[in-house]
Amino acid sequence: MSEVAKIIVQPGRNISGCVRVPGDKSISHRALMLGALAEGQTLIYGFLAGEDCLATLCALRALGVQIDDSDRKLIKVAGVGLKGLRPSAGPLDMGNSGTGLRLLAGVLAGQSFNSELTGDESLLKRPMERIAKPLRRMGAEIETTDGCPPVHIRGESLHPIVFQSPVASAQVKSAVLLAGLYADGTTRVQEPAVTRDHTERMLQTFGVQVQSGDLLSEVKGPAKLTACEVHVPGDLSSAAFVLAAGCLSQSDGVSIESVGINPTRIGVIEILRLMGADINIEAPSIESGEPVATVSALPSSLQGVVIPAELVPLAIDELPLIFALAACAEGETIIRGAEELRHKESDRIAIMVSNLLALGVEVEEFPDGVRIVGGQLQGGTVNSAGDHRIAMAFAVVAMCATQPITILDTDNVATSFPDFVTLMQSLGLRVTDA
Ligand code: S3P
Repeated sequence: MSEVAKIIVQPGRNISGCVRVPGDKSISHRALMLGALAEGQTLIYGFLAGEDCLATLCALRALGVQIDDSDRKLIKVAGVGLKGLRPSAGPLDMGNSGTGLRLLAGVLAGQSFNSELTGDESLLKRPMERIAKPLRRMGAEIETTDGCPPVHIRGESLHPIVFQSPVASAQVKSAVLLAGLYADGTTRVQEPAVTRDHTERMLQTFGVQVQSGDLLSEVKGPAKLTACEVHVPGDLSSAAFVLAAGCLSQSDGVSIESVGINPTRIGVIEILRLMGADINIEAPSIESGEPVATVSALPSSLQGVVIPAELVPLAIDELPLIFALAACAEGETIIRGAEELRHKESDRIAIMVSNLLALGVEVEEFPDGVRIVGGQLQGGTVNSAGDHRIAMAFAVVAMCATQPITILDTDNVATSFPDFVTLMQSLGLRVTDA
């Protein structure tokens, strides 16, 4: 049996430097999919060549799309048009990626052939009825396996719906909007809270008419997508680990160039600032319809906070990091309204709680969140349960523990942040992997 990968971090707070982080995962998935459905050749700069997005790339190839990734800095997608996909010879393996699977399901619902979507052990446990239900209402035949993947899709000619989503989920919203490209008329999605709007923005970049705002997004089908250039910004979800290290630093802090600061993603910056973090945003610009800037974090004295409910969906992927930072802050942090964390790459509430307890932190678990009492982090061993964001969260806060921290099961860091260890070493984190 091969040994599971691990990361070991020695304490040390001498962190500083200026870096770029890998491309945005959400935007990279969407650029590939919309490029595939467009007419003409789409050029993607700054693509995240992490395992999740590569799974989407392979799936699109299996559906007959030619994608040249010989130069990872510039991906060329030969669009086949809205109706140009071909049936795949076998099941489409989306690896660890919920985004890849759910968004592609929306596209495949509009095809005139059958498809099967599957994934790794973690993805096979994630809920898929949340996309299957609205896609069935649009006319597709969809079977899930006890509510999870494998998902079997018999695509049909679709009709538009008005969908009131019961969950605040950009993946659900996007699956319905992508299916809406194939429906004859206006498909509307109403959300219970604001979620990331990359699909809406990128559809506009590809020339599709989209309305969005006030928790409502709508698209008019049948649509025509026109190939374009997409410049993918650095992923704020990856940048968050670097910013956290800058806040915990006792040196000069850190600065990151070309990071996406889409307002539907910046919950983590707002939460960090509420905790007392000294974060600055400079040189803002717009690239491919997305706001981008240089973001820096200086050494800060972090305080516990009660996290406002409206920031939870805007920081959903960064909450494991916030849990870990709360353990190093002064005072108590309370996070509620985050039940969705139980349906991510792992049950992020349960796994974070058991790992924080293992490091001597006082934690109370709620069905939808936690209460964490901050203080001095002990050393020890934690298990990320194969969840990339949990692994990276502990790697960063280990810099202020009393003893080294070993993080087990860290292979999946490559799903979103392939060079995490090297980049953090360049900033001074005393981290190694094995
Ligand atoms: C994503 C949406 C979020 C997020 C995920 C990426 C996307 O998931 O957690 O990492 O790209 O649309 P949900 O839609 O399940 O909240």
